[in-house]
Amino acid sequence: MRIAVVGSGYVGLVAGACFAELGHQVVLVDNDERKLAELQRGECPIHEKFLPELLERHRGKSLDFTGDLADAVRRSQLIFIAVGTPPKDDGDADLSYVESVAQGIACAIDDYKVIVEKSTVPVYTNSWVRKIMLLNGAPAELFDVASNPEFLREGTAVADFLYPDRIVVGADSDRCADLLAEAYQPLVDGSYFKKPGAIPGPVTSPFKATLLRTSAKSAELIKHASNAFLAMKISFINAVASVCEAVGADVEQVREGIGTDSRIGRRFLSPGVGYGGSCFPKDLLAFRSVARENGCHFGLLDETVRVNEEQRNRFLRKVRKALWTLKGKKLGVLGLAFKNGTDDLRESPAVSIIKSLVKEGCSVTAYDPAAMDRAAEEFGPNTAVKFASGPYEALEGADACLVLTEWEDFAALDLARVKQLLHYPIVVDGRNLFKPALMEAAGLNYYSVGRPDVVGERAVTIKASLKAEAARQNEAA
Ligand code: UDX
Repeated sequence: MRIAVVGSGYVGLVAGACFAELGHQVVLVDNDERKLAELQRGECPIHEKFLPELLERHRGKSLDFTGDLADAVRRSQLIFIAVGTPPKDDGDADLSYVESVAQGIACAIDDYKVIVEKSTVPVYTNSWVRKIMLLNGAPAELFDVASNPEFLREGTAVADFLYPDRIVVGADSDRCADLLAEAYQPLVDGSYFKKPGAIPGPVTSPFKATLLRTSAKSAELIKHASNAFLAMKISFINAVASVCEAVGADVEQVREGIGTDSRIGRRFLSPGVGYGGSCFPKDLLAFRSVARENGCHFGLLDETVRVNEEQRNRFLRKVRKALWTLKGKKLGVLGLAFKNGTDDLRESPAVSIIKSLVKEGCSVTAYDPAAMDRAAEEFGPNTAVKFASGPYEALEGADACLVLTEWEDFAALDLARVKQLLHYPIVVDGRNLFKPALMEAAGLNYYSVGRPDVVGERAVTIKASLKAEAARQNEAA
């Protein structure tokens, strides 16, 4: 099939590269000249497993890049809109980029096309795209608008695309739904799985994807409701973790106990510093807005957001509890990205926690396996935040180690070395990466989420030295 994907952000780039991998002829459209030049030179602008391989495999063959939307529209049967839908101040999604792409498509249309919303958009966007197309002179018989939400997680987006739990085709006409379904045929009939050189997925037995046909409005809601449900699971376990801390229970045991109930499931029940990223925070606000505008009270969404925000404050309180005063403290931070496997810092809990600590007078040396360049841009020439070239360097002489992203590499650190490098043997783990018993054995004072603190005998000495230091500071003042 001939496919255009408009917008080469996380979603567009992955979708474009994967459609090329499925054997289609794809053109990726973007108005960012710099990004286009990067892609044409063979660079991959984001850190995403298997994406560089796919771009390399298909660039210049079945995958092209262009800034010319009209030309791409004329060359394609399916046009996926994958542009940004950032939140406005009131939480509503800003759909102006979607609208301007729809105008561009309307002006270029010359044959029957299916326009597909791939960006996460509120319910009714489908009908708005249709109206905008008609207002801009596109003949009604020359197009249909479908909704085909993505469920890609950053870091595993390529495997998520090629081995999806489900593909949702939301369309209000059979002609449109059939054409869109055809684009996914190699996944639905299992032929992609058997192809030599296929990207490996999480499954080893023959894989055939499930394709759900729904109305366009249902598809739009499926996307918002899925993300809201996952975010709710995270906030739920974070709230349970707070209760565990209050009563002296262990959230990891509680999680195992509830997650083994097949009706609940283990996934998305990891407590931590709260969810971040480009989707959950934005989609929760947008879904809440959609519900409100349509007269539905959905207080569960408000509570999900509240618990998430509170989780960052709880972490800051733990740092204070571990270190007593914060002004002048030197902190070694492990992890900057909003989660592991990505270099994305959008709505990263790590970034907001570091900013709060710096406001309190701390200095930070941070390390992240993927997000260092982006972090340097984010923090700018802020002298209170420095970057290390490895995890051990970040901890040298620090008053405490803070773990803020769940990178597996951190869990394998040599704890004896960690202890030796730190000024005080204190680790505050916002992601429960370590086993408390091992931290205790290593002589580290360990504070995590929803589990009892590990404060060994050494802590008495440490507390005494902290008090002595505070007394010295008071005297000096
Ligand atoms: C999410 C959805 O999973 C995906 O289906 C959708 O299309 C886009 O949004 P993504 O933002 O890439 O994907 O990340 P995800 O893996 O869902 O994690 C989101 C956030 O929740 C991260 O900050 C992560 O650290 C946090 N998280 C996740 C937890 O705190 N606990 C968990 O158990 C799972």
